[in-house]
Amino acid sequence: MTKTWGGRFSQGADPAAERFTGSLAFDRRLWPQDVAGSIAWARALARARLLTDAERDAIVKGLEAVRAELQAGTFPFRPELEDIHTNVERRLVELIGDVGGKLHTGRSRNDQIALDERMYLKEAAARAREGLRGVQAALVARAGETTEAPMPGYTHLQRAQPIVLAHHLLAYVFMLQRDRERMAGCAARADRLPLGAAALAGTAFPIDREALARDLGFAGVTPNSLDAVSDRDYILEYLAAAAIAGMHLSRLAADLTLWATAEFGFVEFADAFATGSSIMPQKKNPDVAELIRGKSGRLYGSLVAVLTTMKGLPLSYNSDLQEDKEPFFDSVDTLEAVLGVLPPLLGSLTFRTDRMRAAAGEHYATATDLADYLVRKGLPFRQAHDVVGKAVRLALERGVGLEALPLEALRGFSPLIEADVRDALTVEASLRARAVTGGTAPAAVQKALAEARALVGS
Ligand code: ARG
Repeated sequence: MTKTWGGRFSQGADPAAERFTGSLAFDRRLWPQDVAGSIAWARALARARLLTDAERDAIVKGLEAVRAELQAGTFPFRPELEDIHTNVERRLVELIGDVGGKLHTGRSRNDQIALDERMYLKEAAARAREGLRGVQAALVARAGETTEAPMPGYTHLQRAQPIVLAHHLLAYVFMLQRDRERMAGCAARADRLPLGAAALAGTAFPIDREALARDLGFAGVTPNSLDAVSDRDYILEYLAAAAIAGMHLSRLAADLTLWATAEFGFVEFADAFATGSSIMPQKKNPDVAELIRGKSGRLYGSLVAVLTTMKGLPLSYNSDLQEDKEPFFDSVDTLEAVLGVLPPLLGSLTFRTDRMRAAAGEHYATATDLADYLVRKGLPFRQAHDVVGKAVRLALERGVGLEALPLEALRGFSPLIEADVRDALTVEASLRARAVTGGTAPAAVQKALAEARALVGS
């Protein structure tokens, strides 16, 4: 089959070279954007008097027929035609004859691919935002059940201070909110029409780019044709936002897999979100969560792949840029898969709040509260820290908790300690004390929960 660019060539393509340069296998998913862009371009050409109204109508009707074939799955894809752009154009000419050959007037595949990608990206970012919102909603629902459920909070993976489970879950809701904002920011910056840049220098015909932008739902037009065909920062931003979201979700998944161990026993996965072992009959593996954790590696890989491809590329368009699509689409698919499976997984978890509650009070979790108690009685914090450190050492020697030390023993470390210290050392008192905005006191968590509910619109 003859190439669109075959005129100046005397030799046909080497089959290996043809396979190597073709992009149809992966850019075919851009067909909805490609056809929509072409229909709008035909209208823009007619407005610029480059097509008669009759020619425009023939081309638009032809493209609608092409679209119907693509929708129905009957479109005759031809890999030897390199890419989706050429496939669509060639089919148009087959269907409506030579007039179809006028469609590519004043346009290049260089501005065409940038257009298709930007249109696709805007939709993908909207889906990512919606998917992130769905995960937030699932977390908010579980947080609503657990604002009074104490658990140990950790630093260095060592028990640190009591928190409530809702506080832990809401931490992720606010992280995901920033991921949503990153997706929105990236889509907003991608929202500029590159069409009209043509190959690199700008189209030589009087195209009304602003009208074309309105037709295609863009907020504006790109201000520089070289920039328009040569940059892919919009894809990098999507990939970066996806990588960061993947990182957040990998931490959530890692928390859950850790909590599901016998050692923690804080959570149980529903059978529907776990798998068995082929050799060890007793096992229940948190595969779904593990894979969510693992997928973050792919998301990072895509980002690094495209960054590396872009580095040092001379302006303007280079074929290297074709390498942006597979990592981009892989990240879109990966992120959407993760966001799709998480809400039902989160909804099906059984939190072992009894075990969390028991663990929350163990291991001197309220030692800071004893120091704070002394501070409230006037002792400088550094001295209070020292007093409590000694008390903890004594309790460790005796193998008991701080609250089990006799009052006299505690008073030996500081006469400021009185009988009311008992109440200050409970998990509930420790939680209640952290009533600052953003703290883990149930009342503060209720406020954060209300904020989170507003974010997810539930
Ligand atoms: N397949 C190309 C890409 O993905 C489309 C633009 C091709 N332009 C060209 N002159 N070969 O970037």
